[in-house]
This record gives sequence, structure tokens and C-alpha cells, in this order.
Amino acid sequence: MAFSFPKDFLWGAACSAYQIEGAWNEGGKGLSCHDYYARLPEYEKFYELGRPDDCADFYHHYREDIDIMAERNLKSFRFSIAWPRLFPNGPDEINQECVDYYNDMFSYLNEKGIIPFVDLFHWDLPQWVLDRGGAASREFIDLFEGFARACYANFGDKVKYWSTTNEPSVSIFCGYADWNLNGGGMFPPYEDDRTKAFTACHNMNLAHMRAVKAYREMGQDGKIGAVIDAFPFYPYNFNDKRDMEAGEQMWDFYAGKWLGPILLGKYPDVIVEHFSQYMPEGYQEEIAAAYEPVDYIGNNYYAPRYAKYSPEAPYYSPAPDPELVPVKEGGEFVGMKYYPEGLFDTIRMLDKKYHPKEIIITENGMSAARDPKNPAVPSKINDENRIRYMRSHIMMLSRILEQGINVTGYYVWAIEDTYEHGSGCRYDYGLIGINYDTKERTPRDSFNWYGEFIKANT
Ligand code: FCB
Repeated sequence: MAFSFPKDFLWGAACSAYQIEGAWNEGGKGLSCHDYYARLPEYEKFYELGRPDDCADFYHHYREDIDIMAERNLKSFRFSIAWPRLFPNGPDEINQECVDYYNDMFSYLNEKGIIPFVDLFHWDLPQWVLDRGGAASREFIDLFEGFARACYANFGDKVKYWSTTNEPSVSIFCGYADWNLNGGGMFPPYEDDRTKAFTACHNMNLAHMRAVKAYREMGQDGKIGAVIDAFPFYPYNFNDKRDMEAGEQMWDFYAGKWLGPILLGKYPDVIVEHFSQYMPEGYQEEIAAAYEPVDYIGNNYYAPRYAKYSPEAPYYSPAPDPELVPVKEGGEFVGMKYYPEGLFDTIRMLDKKYHPKEIIITENGMSAARDPKNPAVPSKINDENRIRYMRSHIMMLSRILEQGINVTGYYVWAIEDTYEHGSGCRYDYGLIGINYDTKERTPRDSFNWYGEFIKANT
């Protein structure tokens, strides 16, 4: 089947600093929250399958990896700046070695014709930020703005696509509560405190707006947005109106508490009606006053979920996946399902609810488990199932474009095998396979396929 995409469509692949960079204590880097908690025995269960200490060692291999990307026609590489590498000990002292490293990486990408797309924050808060109260503290807003300004000042000439934050539903909210309020935090600092969870959410939204405002105040000339992970919550029973409503409420609760403020300058009703008691006073007015529109919204899509009405908590009632729904084979990491139609539904919903100017699919990908007896060795290099996965999601994108919705890019997660929170380096998403002992890189068949696809479509 032939696809039709604009010639300047951003065909990319993504990753984050702490998931591939390694070099956790080199180059003047300070401790990230993961480096810190992974070394505390009380938190062992979150790190028993591994720490992000050296993983793919991108820090020492980035030129080689960029060459592999260029050989396969990649148009854009999405990556993040490690805040604890740039500011190892506190907000006042910048690490020049880190400035040089990222400048060289971004220059090399540009030289090879690959557009850098940079997240300011993808899950690795410096431990010194957490020590000062993390995102639950009001000071976070100033600290984040300072970090953002330093990034624009040092890298803004080379980077023209910026995102303030990646999936704060996980990294920020889950520091203090499970994502659906079913228990305590699953992410550093692993606390159990709803007031902190919602306060951190509000502070992250304000920090995002400040960072967007700062970008414009500094006269930067690229695009800036944020990356959220909205996905459909299908009704458990399609014939039950209450399940349908529960699904809508779950969307607003999970993704809407970011998308509402970021795209419309207000929190959704479900937050106002059910969670105001955990929010700081005057939060809705404060968001309206701070609102700063974005140039695009990024959205990561992996799998849908299901919602079922419950009389106790209609607004947070995820249901187990019913057998009947048309979910196909799954990725192997945390039971991620394979349902490309969910990408179509997600984009339609984003467009209908928030009317963003531009949408970029910033992550989409499929995992494969490594052999537990031989975890240094990458999973299958001839990964036809990943090719099927990518093809079917790209087909959904082409249908979305036919509807006239302005989607301008698609990034595969991940450029290479990654460290994943909770499961170490055991599940591969990579277009490039990594041998963790030798650090040998082997492009998978999916990357060769993607390279040919990009060539034919640009
Ligand atoms: C997303 C994250 C990314 C990676 C993938 C598998 O939620 O943004 O860092 O862990 O999932």
C-alpha cells in the first residue's frame, strides 16, 4: 500500500539522556534521582533488574550512533538534556564539559542533516532538586526556568525544536501517587501523598509556561511545546453509557490535567470537581493568568486502556482489559498492547478537544524481551514484528492526515535499546540493538526498513 506524506514530514526516532547515555559519574555529572535512589537498599525493588549506570553508553558512542542514523536517512533525533549533567550540584554552577558535549552532539546531528528535537526534562531530576522538595516545592518553577534559560542560551542556535517536559503523568505525578491513585508513588521520591502529587502537577504546568515564555523573551526562533502521553480509555462495555463517561473522565484525569492547562489555559472539570482539595488555593485562576500557548503538542502513543464505571470513583476506574476488544499481539514490556487504531483515536480526540495548531507523535514503538539467561545480548535483529508494528501505526497516521489534521512528525521509540524504569535493560525497543557487554551496535531490520521507507517518502 502506498502512503502519501508531506516531503518535510519529521521522520524520527527518540530517546532520553538517562535511558541511553550511561556515564553516570563521568564528565562532571551530578547524581540524578535514579542514580541516588538506585543505591538505597529500601528502594531495591525498583532497581533489582539494573541501574542506568552505563546502559548503551551513548555518551561515548554518539558520533558512531549518529552515523548509523544518517546512513538510514533519519530526518530527526529526539533526545533530552540531562539536567544533573548540566547543573551537577545546584542552580548556580554550569558544567562546561557538559555544554561542550551537547554542543558537539547537536552540531554533528546538524552536519549530518538530522534535526535535533530536544526535551528539557525527560525524567531525570537532579537529586539536588529533589533535596529541595522537587516539583512539589514552589521553588521548582524558578529552578526549571533557570535550567531552561541556560539550555536556550547554550544550545538554542543549534536546536530549533524544544519540548519542556516528557510524560509528567509518570515522572512528576508518580513521584507521590500511583498514576490512577491506586497507591503510592512509583517514581523517585516514592512518596504517598496526594497533596504533593497534585501540587507537583500544578507546579510543573506553571514551570512549563515559564519556560515557554522565557523562550520567546530570549528571542529564540524555533518551536516549543510539551510531550504528553494521552491515549484512549475505551469503555469496558460499549453499550453502557456510564462506562463511556468513565472513559472520558479518565482521559481528563490522566492526560487532561496537563493538556487542559497547556493547550487551553484551564484544568478540566474532573480535576475541579474531585481533586481541588489537593491543589493550591486559586490554582485555576493562576493557570489562566500564566497561560502561554505552545507551537505544537507532542504525544507519545503506545496502547489504549479501558474504563469501567464504579459508584465509588467514576473518575478513576481503569478496568482490566476485556477479552473481547480487538487488541492484537503485544509488546513484551509491562504488557503493552498492540492496537494501531488507538493512535488514530488519540489524535482525533486531541484535535477535537483542544484544537492544537500542530501535533507531533513523539513516541511509538514495540518492545521485545531479552533472554534472561543472556541479558547482555540484544533480542532479535530480524524483527519483522516490529516492522509490522511500525507499518500499521504509520498507516493510521496517513489516515489522520487524510482527515486534514496537522500532524507533522512521527518518532519511533527508541533509536537504540534502552534502560527502562523498573525493568532495567531487559526489554528492547531499539532500532539499533546494543550488546551491553561489548557495546557493539547492530542496526535491526526495522531500522533498515524505516530507512528505505523514509527515502521513498521524502
Ligand atoms: C514512555 C517514556 C519513555 C519510555 C517508553 C517505553 O512512557 O516516555 O521514556 O520509557 O515509555
